[in-house]
Amino acid sequence: MTRLSINLNKVALIRNARGGNLPNLEQVAIDCEKFGAQGITVHPRPDERHITFADIPKLKALVTTEFNIEGNPTPHFINLVLKNKPHQCTLVPDDPNQLTSDHGWNTIENESFLTEIIAELKEVGIRTSLFVDPEGKMVEGAKKVGADRIELYTGNYASNYINNKYSAVKPFTEAAKVANDIGIGINAGHDLNLDNLEFFQKNVSNLLEVSIGQAFVSDALYFGLYNTVQLYLRELK
Ligand code: PXP
Repeated sequence: MTRLSINLNKVALIRNARGGNLPNLEQVAIDCEKFGAQGITVHPRPDERHITFADIPKLKALVTTEFNIEGNPTPHFINLVLKNKPHQCTLVPDDPNQLTSDHGWNTIENESFLTEIIAELKEVGIRTSLFVDPEGKMVEGAKKVGADRIELYTGNYASNYINNKYSAVKPFTEAAKVANDIGIGINAGHDLNLDNLEFFQKNVSNLLEVSIGQAFVSDALYFGLYNTVQLYLRELK
């Protein structure tokens, strides 16, 4: 089974545009779960342009499925994570002002840094995941530094899918084989949508979780929140 974790960053972005509480982020999280989502993901960035630091404890208090916090492991981010103890923390090597994440870790060059941070998170019982590109060596590096899972960065899959879905998914199928062989769990995310999700899941064995935000929120404008959750769950069946 592949769990659907909804990334709520873009819901927060709309709310922040007016400085009030519309849409109500907490209610959206509650409703996503009520409608069948199996996780809630947030990606606080240093400028708090979407999820704010104050959102984190509020969401932690209400999420009943799986709470995943992702982000760049700055000291501030790690403190926030340690304080709020999500079920999972996904470490992402994005710059503070980056528009969106666009690459995974070099798990070899960052071996000692990642080993230390992952140990700190695991000590308090937080499952750890490392955002990586679909390269066998990076997957092996993730295992070596102690991560429980990888999150495969699927931006390139999504952009190449339009031209040739078979060649687009090939590196991911291969990286998943490495992950399964060495015993590290597999998550995936970025630019997954109702067109490309099913094919990805069918070609990546033991895909445990996908986190989806941008396309999910865009689809919800047309289909509504309840229907959109059902549409994504249907793709993952
Ligand atoms: N995974 C990571 C590490 C991300 O940074 C993001 C975007 O915040 C996602 C998944 C979700 O990507 P999208 O919004 O394109 O579905």
